[in-house]
Amino acid sequence: MVFKTTTLVSLLAASSFFIGGSALATTFKVAVGDAQGSAQWEMASKFKTAFEAKTGGKHKVDLFPNGQLGSEETTVNSASIGTLDFSVLAINNITPFSPTVGVLTLPYVIQSAEEAKQLVTGEIGKELTANTVRDAGVRIVGWTFTGFRVLTNSKKPIKTIADLKGLKIRVPKNEIMIASYQAWGINPTPMAWSETFTALQQGVVDGQDNPYLTVHSMKFSEVQKYITNIRYVFSLEPIIVGEATFKKQPADVQKAILEAGTEATEHSYKWLADTEGKIKKELTAKGMQITDPADGEKEWIAKATTTVWPKFYASIGGKDKLDKVLKTLGR
Ligand code: MLT
Repeated sequence: MVFKTTTLVSLLAASSFFIGGSALATTFKVAVGDAQGSAQWEMASKFKTAFEAKTGGKHKVDLFPNGQLGSEETTVNSASIGTLDFSVLAINNITPFSPTVGVLTLPYVIQSAEEAKQLVTGEIGKELTANTVRDAGVRIVGWTFTGFRVLTNSKKPIKTIADLKGLKIRVPKNEIMIASYQAWGINPTPMAWSETFTALQQGVVDGQDNPYLTVHSMKFSEVQKYITNIRYVFSLEPIIVGEATFKKQPADVQKAILEAGTEATEHSYKWLADTEGKIKKELTAKGMQITDPADGEKEWIAKATTTVWPKFYASIGGKDKLDKVLKTLGR
């Protein structure tokens, strides 16, 4: 699986036509970081059908998978300045632009898909959406639930933190994820998502982490052998729209966007539950070996929570933001 070169961002990606501030029949372009068949693609496809139905076919949605419209990080800026309409991307790739969403990528805060849903569809989700509008000029209108991130590598089964020694692990350009691996004793390699498959293939890095669904849809089994269930971050992958683009739409179109986003979120949640078990079996059938950490996840959790959480209190907006999340989850 190889990513297409990113050449289409900017004006080519802008597909909404406005005259005097009101939208004519419009095709909205949606960048999708992952491949067709991924959780991102499934959610975006549901968004497309729901939105097109709600607007009676007056508005269309075109999906561009595999980072064709830019790396996930780049699409945040493109949506913000209006050269791209929507993007579906991992939350960790928004955090650099709106640090308070980092509360959702702090290791081991979210412990189940139910908790992930509870957070993003409730008060916390509303707050974080307001923050991305304020900080990054993009609005979250729906969520993909992709599952827990697990560690893959090409060299050996990993059971303990000590086993990580000597491995080169790619991480997103996300300070919290970098700090997590540092807490586990290695210096990971921050790298754009769009470069990851090739880097694994060429041995520039030995491993990476992402959910089972992503490992499968991105065909990582072709270049990775071992999976460890470290489950340190639950991958939430929102669909964002440029705030300026959203604001330019008439009220009925804004409503259709928000409703389609809600329907796509519900669909994604069910799809994860229906699909993940099957995908794990397929990965095993393709020769991948799945290992659990030796002591459950105890040493991974202890190091990550005690070392990483305090480092990011300031960037997530204060320790009380994390306390509020934990309280919402009944902890
Ligand atoms: C990343 O690792 O950068 C993202 O989680 C990849 C993705 O969007 O699936």
